[in-house]
Amino acid sequence: MAEKSPDLPLARVPRHVAIIMDGNGRWAIQRGLPRLAGHKAGTENLRRVIRSTVEFGVKYLTIYAFSTENWGRPAEEVQGLLGILQDVIDRELNELNKEGVQLRHIGRLERLSPNLQERVLKAIDITKNNDRLILNIAWNYGGRDEIVCAIQKIIKDGIAPEDVTDQLVGQYMFTAGVPDPDLVIRTSGELRVSNFLIWQTAYSEWYVTPTFWPDFGHEEYRRALEAFAQRDRRYGKVSSGELQESNA
Ligand code: FPP
Repeated sequence: MAEKSPDLPLARVPRHVAIIMDGNGRWAIQRGLPRLAGHKAGTENLRRVIRSTVEFGVKYLTIYAFSTENWGRPAEEVQGLLGILQDVIDRELNELNKEGVQLRHIGRLERLSPNLQERVLKAIDITKNNDRLILNIAWNYGGRDEIVCAIQKIIKDGIAPEDVTDQLVGQYMFTAGVPDPDLVIRTSGELRVSNFLIWQTAYSEWYVTPTFWPDFGHEEYRRALEAFAQRDRRYGKVSSGELQESNA
């Protein structure tokens, strides 16, 4: 069960939160457990965070579950993560569907077994009319791969160079139709982007915490949203207050 939401409303709620769920391995090692136990605890936490996301009124949540680089991990860990993906679909789909969550995938499904690809596509299809929360699962996802894929499609579609605009490129991304993330949360303290949504996060705000992903709970999520609400988003311009002063 999610903890009770504090009563005070947030001053400003991001439309789209993206999360790098890092630190599962270290969480497990600290407890003398295999790394996969950390990923399982991380998956449990994801259930709680999805609930909190709905409670906070965030409309889009994108989670980095498996990167194009993660194939380079030990075979046992990769197999374990693929097993988790299958379990999540088998065990959580009904609940997610009931809660009004629409599942989407970003990345490439090609390297999954045909059976798992079919399950993912079916889950997407079953939930496609839900609109309480759009949950984008980045699986076999890499930001550079996404950009390469977009360029290939743009060329294949015979788009003239002068028609290649910021908006058009956005439409060729896996995230087409989804607003850019307002806030990116990264757990476990690493200060890097790790090939996550490198096009879409050009002006996202960041919240980095040393907390390992399995321990990132409702309270800290709320603190991240409170920190976001305090940010002055200038998008490379000056703040509206400064503008008024300079015009005075
Ligand atoms: C990073 O921690 C975490 C991952 C590579 C996997 C995250 C995946 C899940 C929580 C499962 C979610 C599953 C679905 C299907 C949505 P790490 O292993 O890099 O941690 P470390 O840096 O401490 O080693």
